[in-house]
Amino acid sequence: MQKILVAHDGSKSSEKALKKALELAVNFNASLSVLSVIPELYLTELPDMDRERIFESLSTETTNTMEKIRKSLSGKSIEVKTLIRQGDPAEKILETANKMKVDLVVTGSHGKHGTKKFLLGSVSAKIVDYSKYPVLVVK
Ligand SMILES: Nc1ncnc2c1ncn2[C@@H]1O[C@H](COP(=O)(O)OP(=O)(O)O)[C@@H](O)[C@H]1O
Ligand SMILES: [Mg+2]
Repeated sequence: MQKILVAHDGSKSSEKALKKALELAVNFNASLSVLSVIPELYLTELPDMDRERIFESLSTETTNTMEKIRKSLSGKSIEVKTLIRQGDPAEKILETANKMKVDLVVTGSHGKHGTKKFLLGSVSAKIVDYSKYPVLVVK
């Protein structure tokens, strides 16, 4: 196993996924890429100004979180990359996995805004369904 991609949305569940992914990367001496996707805002009825402000704040939050992660992992023996994309989260995670030809995709079972009513979150469910590569969903 050489390349591990972990999807991070700032949720507790994705923190658990990151921990597990890190543990695996260290054990396999694999590279670890941490990906966060800034979601598109489909709230079309919002005025442009509000949409821009929400997007700005999401971007800042994501950049800060990824910077913290990058710093916290900088002392590790493995190669770590943080990536930020924009768009539909599941699509961007799958697209990145394909481009990188990863050996494993790691996600949390749930995310930030979902409900625990479902067994899996919508993003992790889509990744499990459509990924060409093995997926580890961390609970
Ligand atoms: N915007 C995102 N960027 C990166 N990873 C994400 C994103 N959204 C979700 N994920 C990944 O998918 C996992 C499950 O989240 P999700 O399916 O969105 O659950 P929920 O429906 O509870 O929000 C997260 O723990 C994270 O690993
Ligand atoms: Mg979510």
